[in-house]
Amino acid sequence: MTEAILLVGGRGTRLRPLTVRTPKPMVPAAGVPFLAHQLARARAAGVDHVILATSYLAEVFEPYFGDGSALGLSLEYVTERDPLGTGGALRNVAARLRSGPDEPVLVFNGDILTGLDIRALVATHTASGADVSLHLTRVPDPRAFGLVPTDREGRVTAFLEKPQTPEEIVTDQINAGAYVFRRSVIDAIPAGRPVSVERETFPGLLAAGAHLQGMVDATYWLDLGTPQAFVRGSADLVLGRAPSPAVPGRRGERLVLPTATVAPDAKLSGGTVVGEGAEIGPGARVTGTAVLAGAVVEQGAQITDSLIGAGARVGARTVLSGVVVGDGATVGPDNELREGVRVWCDAVLPAGAVRFSSDA
Ligand code: GDD
Ligand code: MG
Repeated sequence: MTEAILLVGGRGTRLRPLTVRTPKPMVPAAGVPFLAHQLARARAAGVDHVILATSYLAEVFEPYFGDGSALGLSLEYVTERDPLGTGGALRNVAARLRSGPDEPVLVFNGDILTGLDIRALVATHTASGADVSLHLTRVPDPRAFGLVPTDREGRVTAFLEKPQTPEEIVTDQINAGAYVFRRSVIDAIPAGRPVSVERETFPGLLAAGAHLQGMVDATYWLDLGTPQAFVRGSADLVLGRAPSPAVPGRRGERLVLPTATVAPDAKLSGGTVVGEGAEIGPGARVTGTAVLAGAVVEQGAQITDSLIGAGARVGARTVLSGVVVGDGATVGPDNELREGVRVWCDAVLPAGAVRFSSDA
């Protein structure tokens, strides 16, 4: 038996960073809630028991995933009254674990899309005899992450969460948010108070001489923390660049869910997904975009790298690039919105209200 804890709570995820009403783990990426991809990948790697450690109400997840049996999993939900931090969340679910004290328990950050070979991480862990093993990846700018320098054997020498000064940027290897813990290490995290694994548990373990092992690999990896990253991740799932057994259809330029309607001369490309009941009008060109359920894209609209929320409407000839249109919002005809614009849920932008290009 292999079991895993999925971290899907915390303060940041309570906000609606995507300008859509659904909490982030349940926003559809390539047609299904993002969490479905992580669960399916864990299952494919032999995981059969998953505990969702959350600080939302389980009502958000349970109607969709239930007891996990449809996915071949035994799935449990544990809700924190107040967010306990990443380490506190692990300690809070420790009593649900079925593994023995020395057995490996997988832990995943709930906002990561990756092609990680989960079995290889467990094998590395077992072979090295480590207390905790961490998936590491290299990024051009590590400042928003946990920096994890290692020695020649891959043993972790320090853990520096969100470095503040240039001197602290000692490596481009970062914590990729997938771990294998020896079960007894989780049991030893203090109970009943917030604990950060990144700021408290890992540095404390290192100071006490524990063995933390890093596994660097260059597979597909993306933190879906920003709306732009979420849109990219959804498109990469559709294109097949990000592997997931949960994508409901063939990989390719587009994924059109069964009840969506697409005009014959509309052009969908770059991993665009069109959700249930959504409509794409004549002559529209949609690239690298997630159009959520029930949204309408009117004729001649041109949309690139954007998220169109559930039930939203994009008017005729409107041009969007790198935009998030919130659930139920309307962007009227003949607008032009560019990188970073977020239209809040249910907002209405009249026809011809905003443009970026010159009047000429
Ligand atoms: N249950 C629960 N309770 N989950 C939590 C809590 C909490 O109080 N706080 C955070 N989480 C979950 C989040 O939902 C997310 O899935 C994961 O833990 C990591 O938290 P983030 O808030 O997304 O952290 P981050 O992205 O800034 O940094 C983390 O991820 C990076 C990789 O993306 C750290 O682990 C970094 O070291 C790492 O590099
Ligand atoms: Mg994150």
